Amino acid sequence: MPLILGIESSCDDLAAAVVRDGSQILSSLVHSQDAVHAPYGGVVPELASRDHVLHVHDTVRLALDRAGCGLEQIDAIGVTSGPGLIGSLLVGLCFAKSLAFRSGKPLLAVHHIEGHLASARLAREGDQAPLELPYLGVVVSGGHTALYQVESLAKIELLGQTRDDAAGEAFDKIAKRMGLGYPGGREVDLCAKQGRGDAYAFPRPMLNRPGLEMSFSGLKTAVALAIEREEQAGGGALPEPVRADLCASFQEAVVEVLLEKASRALDETGYKRMALVGGLAANSRLREGVAALAEQRGIECRYPPIALCTDNAAMIAAVADDMFVQKRLASLGVEAFSRVPVGVHWSESTPAADR
Ligand code: KG4
Ligand code: ZN
Repeated sequence: MPLILGIESSCDDLAAAVVRDGSQILSSLVHSQDAVHAPYGGVVPELASRDHVLHVHDTVRLALDRAGCGLEQIDAIGVTSGPGLIGSLLVGLCFAKSLAFRSGKPLLAVHHIEGHLASARLAREGDQAPLELPYLGVVVSGGHTALYQVESLAKIELLGQTRDDAAGEAFDKIAKRMGLGYPGGREVDLCAKQGRGDAYAFPRPMLNRPGLEMSFSGLKTAVALAIEREEQAGGGALPEPVRADLCASFQEAVVEVLLEKASRALDETGYKRMALVGGLAANSRLREGVAALAEQRGIECRYPPIALCTDNAAMIAAVADDMFVQKRLASLGVEAFSRVPVGVHWSESTPAADR
């Protein structure tokens, strides 16, 4: 029953968590930087890493306190070492290395996307058992949109991904363009509730092409042009109902593409289980759509509670638990990577590529 301390600092959230046995969350804390980046309408990397330096100690301390344990009771320390913003990653990684050095506890270097994929196994209602393996992992976040075949937490294969923007990036850019506030994805979701999803016929990129590749940049441009047209028609302003229709129609296009690609991936793999993870797994329409798809296909589907959809450290601790059990330990010289594919365990040998 390993007790793992997880630390995540790959982007703008600093998170720490204590997880027992890979699925039982004893504490999970996220120090949000929303207020830091809101004036800029997006993450400013320099500010993100500086803020991490200020808060890493207290956040980790609090996670241990809330779990009712000290560092001496922890079996191992898991930390995100990539992909992400390099300055942000280095703060969490260096802090974790110092803790490991001081305490003599093993260090595990965790891939951020593997963390999101594992978050589905933390998604439990009551005493529901963790999602069994294998499953189709649908990762939809601010930086990634991809489908993965999850045979086990140590054997994950990419099936298809976006060629350009991540779906979350498109949500954030459109929210910013409409002045909807920051972070944008949640605001678009809320605004869309008042609108009609069929008000605008936005493109469904790559839907008519075979395969599992996706693309969201053309859709983003189509929505931006529609916003411009509507603003001109409204004398510079975007009336509330028009804004809601634009949000709902954009959201509908993204959801339709994701559901169709997920459905194809289920055909291809023959899997009977599916997990929707990443920041966009918090999207109400996408959650509804995935649940309906699962029901229609008679398969099991899980998505984490909202707090575990966006970046958190419990998911990092869940992967670290698996790595710890399998003795895939990192050395204190382990590097941080801004880009690194899933399935490459740089804790054992450092891949030169894709940095
Ligand atoms: O997984 P995450 O916290 O960070 C990355 O690893 O990228 O995902 C953040 C993304 C942002 O683009 C944010 O706008 C989006 O998730 N997001 C949402 C919702 N909540 C967060 N997008 C749509 N609807 C939501 N309810
Ligand atoms: Zn993430």
